[in-house]
Amino acid sequence: MQQAPLMEAWFIILVSAFVCVVVRAIFSRQTKTINTPPGPLHIPIVTSILWLLKSFSQLEPILRTLHAKFGPIVTIRIGSQRAIFIADRTLAHRALVQNGSLFSDRPKALAASKIVTSNQHNISSASYGATWRVLRRNLTSEMLHHSRAKSFSGIRNWVLHTLLAHLKSDSLSNDSVRVIDHFQYAMFSLLVFMCFGERLDEGKVREIERVQRQLLIGFNRFNILNFWPKVTRVLLRKRWEELLRFRKEQEDVMLPFIRARQQKQKQGKEEGVVSYVDTLLDLHLPEEKRKLNEGEIVTLCNEFLNGGTDTTSTALQWIMANLVKYRHVQERLVDEIREVLGEREEREVKEEELQKLGYLKCVILEGLRRHPPGHFVLPHAVTEDVIFNDYLVPKNGTVNFMVAEMGWDPKVWEDPMAFKPERFMNDESFDITGSKEIKMMPFGAGRRICPGYNLALLHLEYFVANLVWNFEWKVPDGGDVDLSEKQEFTVVMKNALHVHLSPRI
Ligand code: HEM
Repeated sequence: MQQAPLMEAWFIILVSAFVCVVVRAIFSRQTKTINTPPGPLHIPIVTSILWLLKSFSQLEPILRTLHAKFGPIVTIRIGSQRAIFIADRTLAHRALVQNGSLFSDRPKALAASKIVTSNQHNISSASYGATWRVLRRNLTSEMLHHSRAKSFSGIRNWVLHTLLAHLKSDSLSNDSVRVIDHFQYAMFSLLVFMCFGERLDEGKVREIERVQRQLLIGFNRFNILNFWPKVTRVLLRKRWEELLRFRKEQEDVMLPFIRARQQKQKQGKEEGVVSYVDTLLDLHLPEEKRKLNEGEIVTLCNEFLNGGTDTTSTALQWIMANLVKYRHVQERLVDEIREVLGEREEREVKEEELQKLGYLKCVILEGLRRHPPGHFVLPHAVTEDVIFNDYLVPKNGTVNFMVAEMGWDPKVWEDPMAFKPERFMNDESFDITGSKEIKMMPFGAGRRICPGYNLALLHLEYFVANLVWNFEWKVPDGGDVDLSEKQEFTVVMKNALHVHLSPRI
């Protein structure tokens, strides 16, 4: 008689135990903390300071070791912030292209950056939202659209002839010509014209170049101001003053040109080209329901000039350095141009002829793969906490993509450190935007991809073709081409390229 209740009791105990185990398993699964990607040991304050003292170029070899140890996605902790680094091209594609709506934000600007970005009112630093969309659409459809880009072909031709003349006169008086200053000046003349719509004399272009470069190259020095701004404003007062002075100088130099365009608009004068400033004067910010103020226009001109000059002249120098080092590549390029131009006397490759030069395109692509001007894209951020590849990518961190590592991946590129333009010959439809697959990403990929990539490719093709068509580029007697790198705003040649130039007859 007593066995039935006993069995009942056992049954209830067993069922309850089973339910407990199941509930606990489900519960523990749900509450299992998802970690950020792995990374090196974090010792509060100590390791943060060590990381902060390192530049991106010093970080790169350390990150390579960390990736070998922890896998393709690692985290570095700096204070309470997490910086995530992705070295793998497939993961980059999954983040930037397949999950573009989540991975296209930018980190909140820190104190010093707020000053030079007018509190994130430019394309590259704006949060992923309406302001960014309007600014970016203005640049792409009003300035970089094919027909608008074509309207500047006359100025490209003028800049090319000035560059050739400078190189010629320099080569007459010097056996060895340092070319980077000529390249930078040429790119500045071009972008300054597109920006302000005026052909300025050399003195004015040089003045703009000076104020731009002092902020660009000096900016690393101001990074320290971002940490504990309240303290650094007292302890590093001189450096804060220097930053504000650089910014003020930039405004003083640019505002007269901006106001001149504004005046022209008011007077209804519509002669000449449409400049970047003209498009900015017309723009409305949808979120703030107002036009851009003068400081914001200066900031956007600054971005336009930096985006299009330093990157392109750096790439141009790397490509020409390889053409000097590997003479057979230079000669093959010249042969291709000769074939397309025929017996024509005039020593100019016209823009319309560039599309017939297949090998030239391969040389440019190989230059950008082997020597991407930026070894990282600009830091990205996620719009919300995201689980990615089984890890947590937190909203308040940064997500960084290792451009150079991807272009040098031996699983994709045979003998990746060699300069071999031929590798692109059998891949005519190679897609540099990485929309279907990322093999290299010198311009980034996805929604934040560089909007100027077509213009940059046009400039590189046009100048490289004409430089080798006009001069034979050789190593000066007793010299060599040293391909060592140095981090400035972009990754530049540590020892600037010096060449011996002889005119091609
Ligand atoms: C060889 C030349 C160039 C290279 C290698 C280059 C590379 C890049 C890279 C890597 C990014 C960051 C992409 C990302 O964060 O995911 C970028 C962004 C940008 N670039 Fe370029 N760029 C070049 C030329 C230009 C030119 C000619 C312009 C304009 C005239 C330009 C304007 C910009 C702007 C506005 C952004 C910010 C895009 C955004 O955040 O939405 N760049 N570029």
